[in-house]
Amino acid sequence: MAEAILPAVYRGTVLHFLRDPGADDDPGAWELFEDGALAIGADGTVRWTGDWAALPEQYLATVVDHRGALIVPGFVDTHIHYSQYDMIASFGAQLEDWLQDYVFPAERKFADPDYADHISGLFLDTLAACGTTTAGVYPTVHPTSVDAFFAQAHRRGLRMTCGKILMDKQPDAPEFLSDAGVPQAEEHTRRLIARWHRNDRLTYAITPRFALSSSAEQLAMSGRLSREFPDVAVQTHAAESRPETADVLARFPDARSYLDVYDKAGLLGARSTFGHCVHVDEQDRSRLAAAGAAIAFCPTSNLFLGSGLFDFAAAREAGVRVGLGSDCGAGTSYSMLRTLNEAYKVVMLKESTKPARRRTTLSALRGFYLATLGGAEALHLDNHIGNFRPGKEADFVVLDWAATPTLARRTEAARDFPERLFAQMILGDDRSIKATYAMGRPIYTRATT
Ligand code: GUN
Ligand code: ZN
Repeated sequence: MAEAILPAVYRGTVLHFLRDPGADDDPGAWELFEDGALAIGADGTVRWTGDWAALPEQYLATVVDHRGALIVPGFVDTHIHYSQYDMIASFGAQLEDWLQDYVFPAERKFADPDYADHISGLFLDTLAACGTTTAGVYPTVHPTSVDAFFAQAHRRGLRMTCGKILMDKQPDAPEFLSDAGVPQAEEHTRRLIARWHRNDRLTYAITPRFALSSSAEQLAMSGRLSREFPDVAVQTHAAESRPETADVLARFPDARSYLDVYDKAGLLGARSTFGHCVHVDEQDRSRLAAAGAAIAFCPTSNLFLGSGLFDFAAAREAGVRVGLGSDCGAGTSYSMLRTLNEAYKVVMLKESTKPARRRTTLSALRGFYLATLGGAEALHLDNHIGNFRPGKEADFVVLDWAATPTLARRTEAARDFPERLFAQMILGDDRSIKATYAMGRPIYTRATT
């Protein structure tokens, strides 16, 4: 791994977003500097970004030359399970069977702190190699799984969100993965919040697994904690598959919808991120938008488990924050570029039934917004990361336009920048990542260039 050089100026093509470019690639929403400079201070935050030729003298420092490559903010994966590292690509089951047959036995192993530490390291190395610098991470029910993960993230200087999974309701929480009562789950959560929340770049998230695996008492406790700690995040799964959604409505007959179960428990707020939300309606979307809550759009996972096609256009038109999630191990790639590839196809399919003039497509610019600033907004971390505004933490990725022969040819043939970026979004993957930086320090450098 290369040594950190700080302060430094990174020279290359620089792209970042100031807001969602929307369906029409609003030119005011993004900045592109073809021969650009990204100046980083000794403290690892952004000082200045713009055209190389316009770099003010006061920011001139050691130059790291990435000319010919694309520099974008670090990718944000808003929903992923580090505990499923060893069982990704498990065959042939929809959500509820897949959890019982593959996920729960895999998560049981995290009772061993050494195993949790080992997998945390492998997982974070994998994210770095994919250009992902921040994630909303699910561990297991074991408090030691959170300690192991946060300790590894802290050592690497990463901005990460994680929190002990809460689950106590059989059969959707098997006995061997269940909290031993609500008071103990609360005590464990409080202890972990005290140890990790706002410890350097780490954010704690209250994490009831999903409505079916928590008792009503545990959901109520989670809601109470989130009121008591308003800057602690909340993350959970919602309305992922049709059978799961039907089971939730049968178990909570007073709830108007799946999301309403969380709302009634006090879990639907401005720091909440809900994975999936495939089977939601207009009222749910309005409620999410009004609360400032977010959806993690997990295309590879929703396709892999046959959960359904997320309505991206409806969510954004309703004003809901949306980020991208790989949701590995139900998701099939750690790469946010691969995830964008599938997101593009999901949007195409979902829109295909609308009249042509009302269809949305996921442009490359909007895709890269989703993978960077959009993800930061979904995790409510956009005051720290997501773009290169001065003062932001300098997490960034260097992308290779010629990572594969196919991508190189397609890039050569592209007529303009959006077309080149689209080729990267559709043909790119972990091979595109030349280097990944956190707070201006290299955390991954590709072995060959
Ligand atoms: N719903 C509850 N738990 C999980 C999980 O681990 N993965 C996915 N995709 N959905 C879930
Ligand atoms: Zn998940």
